[in-house]
Amino acid sequence: MANIHIHPGWLLPEREVTPEFVYWNRRAFLRAVGMGAAALGLGGCGPRLGGPAERVQGDGAKAASDVAAMEPKDPLDTIPPTPTLDLYPAVRDPRFELDRPVTDRIVAATHNNFYEFLTDKKGVWRHTGPFRARPWTVEIAGLAEHTGTYDVADLEREFGLEERLYRFRCVEAWAIAVPWTGFPLRKLIAKAQPLSAAHYVRFVSFLRPDEAIGQRTQSWYPWPYYEGLRLDEAMNELAFVATGIYGAPLPKQHGAPIRIALPWKYGFKGPKSIVRVEFVRGQPRTFWNDLATDEYGFYSNINPDVPHPRWSQKTEEVVGTGERRPTLLFNGYGEWVGQLYDAKLLTYRS
Ligand code: MTE
Repeated sequence: MANIHIHPGWLLPEREVTPEFVYWNRRAFLRAVGMGAAALGLGGCGPRLGGPAERVQGDGAKAASDVAAMEPKDPLDTIPPTPTLDLYPAVRDPRFELDRPVTDRIVAATHNNFYEFLTDKKGVWRHTGPFRARPWTVEIAGLAEHTGTYDVADLEREFGLEERLYRFRCVEAWAIAVPWTGFPLRKLIAKAQPLSAAHYVRFVSFLRPDEAIGQRTQSWYPWPYYEGLRLDEAMNELAFVATGIYGAPLPKQHGAPIRIALPWKYGFKGPKSIVRVEFVRGQPRTFWNDLATDEYGFYSNINPDVPHPRWSQKTEEVVGTGERRPTLLFNGYGEWVGQLYDAKLLTYRS
């Protein structure tokens, strides 16, 4: 990978390494950047990845000032102009009830993982100003009868929108509970009509370094973000395509205008701001698995008994209140998805 800027500040002593996505094992890092340890001058500690945009070298200073000029006024000033506003708020589907209060809207809008912009969760929204999230098209591609490119607004009107209260659990052991607006992924799959040779679905997020500062400055990530599901997982009633949250279109930091929400899997399995849905024969590679194979499995179903190699998954912290709750197998959605997995898929980091 060209133009890798290594900031000395990333080289942290081992004691400062915390269980977050921003750290990963050294081998995976070296593989990701395609360089040897000697070339990078890394010592025995893992690199800290990312950091505020202002820290980048080269044209980073100009980029940072551009971003500052376009900075949204507040965390909800990031909802893009949406031609389907009349569809919001959508009617709530009563099948999905929560065992906890809905997370405060601003708390959720200021606690985001969206590395295309920033690795610091609190600041992602501030950096989304240049990102043009509408109009937006999604390409349906690969092994399907009906491939093509569709405007998100047309899909929203064709499928109709509903609201679902879902729990959401990040692999970093924090949790929120949010009302998503959108439609079941199975509706999109039914429209595409996958061929019998298609066994998996692959999702690809946007690649626009001009609009997403993290894509410009964090060149060691294999952009664009990519994820995947087995086709029967994708067809499960729970698998949801979200175009909105809290009764309004998605703010950019939540993955406007269209993202995937899979409440029984760790959050990284749900890619944001997707541009492509592709039906494929074999198990697709995934962004985090390529970066740290031992840490982020393809299945990554929420499971308190399978610890992350660097931290326990027994409990989770509720964002906003700090409450600690026991982690539930499949995040408590076992009756919906338990039948998808045999015991083998629950014994390793799946
Ligand atoms: N999708 C893209 N394109 N880029 C990302 O960095 N982060 C993932 C997931 N989808 C990510 C992504 C992770 S790690 C999490 S926990 C969730 O988005 C966070 O979603 P939220 O910020 O809307 O809560």
